[in-house]
Amino acid sequence: MPARLLGKVYLVGAGPGDPELITLKGKRCLEAADVILFDELANHQLLAFAAADAQLIYVGKKPGKRCADQREIEALLIQHARRGKFVVRLKGGDPFVFGRGGEEALALSRAAIPFEVVPGISSALAVPACAGIPVTHRSCASSFAVVTGHKVGDGEVKWGELARAADTLVILMGMQNLALIMGRLRDSGCEPERPVALVQSGSLSCQDCVFGTVGTITKIAAGWKRTGPVVIIVGEVVKMGQELQRIEETLVEAGLFLSKVTENSKEVRI
Ligand SMILES: C[S@@+](CC[C@H](N)C(=O)[O-])C[C@H]1O[C@@H](n2cnc3c(N)ncnc32)[C@H](O)[C@@H]1O
Repeated sequence: MPARLLGKVYLVGAGPGDPELITLKGKRCLEAADVILFDELANHQLLAFAAADAQLIYVGKKPGKRCADQREIEALLIQHARRGKFVVRLKGGDPFVFGRGGEEALALSRAAIPFEVVPGISSALAVPACAGIPVTHRSCASSFAVVTGHKVGDGEVKWGELARAADTLVILMGMQNLALIMGRLRDSGCEPERPVALVQSGSLSCQDCVFGTVGTITKIAAGWKRTGPVVIIVGEVVKMGQELQRIEETLVEAGLFLSKVTENSKEVRI
């Protein structure tokens, strides 16, 4: 029987937003792909790396729009790989950090499809960093935890234990439940003065950040214009971000801080 050509699926992390924060390997996969299935959060500028004849399939989730469900996405990956295609599944951040990459890897291996994970820079680390907030710092934070803010009511996340166990909390997908999360933290003994930062569209030139505390951030967020994804950071390290931002603003006002390399290496703020 003639050997059947089997394709391969690459689960590629696109990084946090700035297209320059994809890995070299991720870029190489995009250049070589026959088919690319991409998410909403992966920066669509990255598709410029695709070959002219690559098939680009949007499988993201947009409010109010019909989107492919997880089983459909898995079926598409399997279908294209069985046709011998080089398939890239492009996901925001890292595919295995709240990205359902694990489910896709399982589906592929159950279908005996070869696959490889190409890690990406997760927003969990990159977004605080881009806002000048180190998730660990010698004097005040020797541990951090990354947690979903999506599941608050079902008891799956032990907020009290987390707040006691880790010095810094990095919360993804938490904005819809911000008030509830802050309430859970207070109920579990977290002092209301503990600093909190909300960083929106981290790593992009439209990045925006507000600061508060466990006791005040919900009110502050209510008056904040939101257009992009947000990472919530809770802990003493947030003060460093505030301090760095203050210094930067002072330098800019004094005309001393000339430029900053951001998204696509454009020089801004001359
Ligand atoms: C479904 S999770 C996917 C996380 C992704 N796999 C990662 O490793 O970054 C989506 C959440 O990531 C966070 N996020 C992703 N990109 C972000 C960005 N550029 N700025 C702020 N938050 C971001 C937000 O909390 C958003 O709700």
